[in-house]
Amino acid sequence: MNVIRRLWMWLWRPSARLAVGVVLIIGLVGGAGGIVVFNMALANTNTTAFCTRCHEMGTALNELQKTKHYLNRVGVRAECPDCHVPEGGLPKYLAKLAAAKDVWGRITGVIDTPEKYEALRLEMAKGVWAKMKATDSRECRSCHDFNAMKFDDQDKTAAKKHQRIMKEKGDERKTCIDCHQGIAHTLPSGVEE
Ligand code: HEC
Ligand code: HEC
Ligand code: HEC
Ligand code: HEC
Repeated sequence: MNVIRRLWMWLWRPSARLAVGVVLIIGLVGGAGGIVVFNMALANTNTTAFCTRCHEMGTALNELQKTKHYLNRVGVRAECPDCHVPEGGLPKYLAKLAAAKDVWGRITGVIDTPEKYEALRLEMAKGVWAKMKATDSRECRSCHDFNAMKFDDQDKTAAKKHQRIMKEKGDERKTCIDCHQGIAHTLPSGVEE
């Protein structure tokens, strides 16, 4: 106890003997170090391998592996964070903070058996849909762009719908996730495609 109290007092003692410059330098170096560590942590937690540390019993990954987003003709793969984590900036930091809920969920084991996963699937899916709706399917658009689509090569219905919603404005405008659910995972039972 004594040691801790002394350390505490030392920490808060005015720095009579340290030049302000030294304090500043320590602060800057410490701050820079913190940013580096923080960014490394962000990078390391933004991989499929990291996600499957918890989502290890594999439902999400197994399902993804059967879709075109995992294996396709052109060799572009969508990893878990590509669809679920904002690309950068404040939205990304906030998403990472919100993931603290996942850690708690892990500790309490809310999806640690296939049965529990199925029981929670609809609720989880609804959460994802709501997020995607709110961002106008931002994560989809980091790969897909209507302006880069060659509509002639798409089937007629797709080309027609896409070109129509490209022109639409306002709140009623449909977004990718309105029409494309279940592209990476099995739809919750009872939900129509
Ligand atoms: C520490 C363990 C853990 C890690 C690591 C983890 N998850 Fe989760 N995840 C969970 C648990 C538990 C749930 C169940 C619901 C809850 O508690 O949020 C969940 C729920 C989800 C959901 C559905 C609900 C929601 O919040 O949107 C998505 C999507 C998801 N995780 C994606 C990911 C992705 C992508 C990664 C990697 C960037 C990841 N998870 C890493 C444990 C984890
Ligand atoms: C990492 C890039 C990437 C992201 C992120 C991504 N996609 Fe894709 N998507 C692709 C590629 C590449 C293909 C082409 C696969 C093929 O047909 O060869 C594709 C194919 C598709 C297809 C047609 C094949 C199918 O599975 O039906 C749809 C629909 C689609 N994406 C919708 C979406 C939606 C909706 C999102 C967001 C939830 C999304 N994509 C996110 C890269 C991505
Ligand atoms: C109003 C409904 C609707 C919306 C909104 C919509 N799509 Fe589609 N899309 C379709 C239909 C219908 C098809 C054809 C059947 C299918 O693949 O599901 C299609 C097909 C596709 C394909 C496959 C094209 C092919 O020829 O293989 C991709 C990729 C795709 N959509 C991406 C997107 C993306 C990305 C968004 C958002 C930027 C989006 N769509 C928004 C209805 C929609
Ligand atoms: C191509 C985009 C895409 C990729 C890649 C992707 N997801 Fe998802 N994920 C979705 C969408 C869209 C939903 C919402 C439910 C639906 O429509 O299937 C979802 C839903 C979920 C859910 C909620 C349960 C469910 O089945 O609906 C979890 C958990 C999840 N994803 C985890 C992951 C993990 C872990 C990975 C990597 C192994 C991953 N996702 C890769 C698009 C993606």
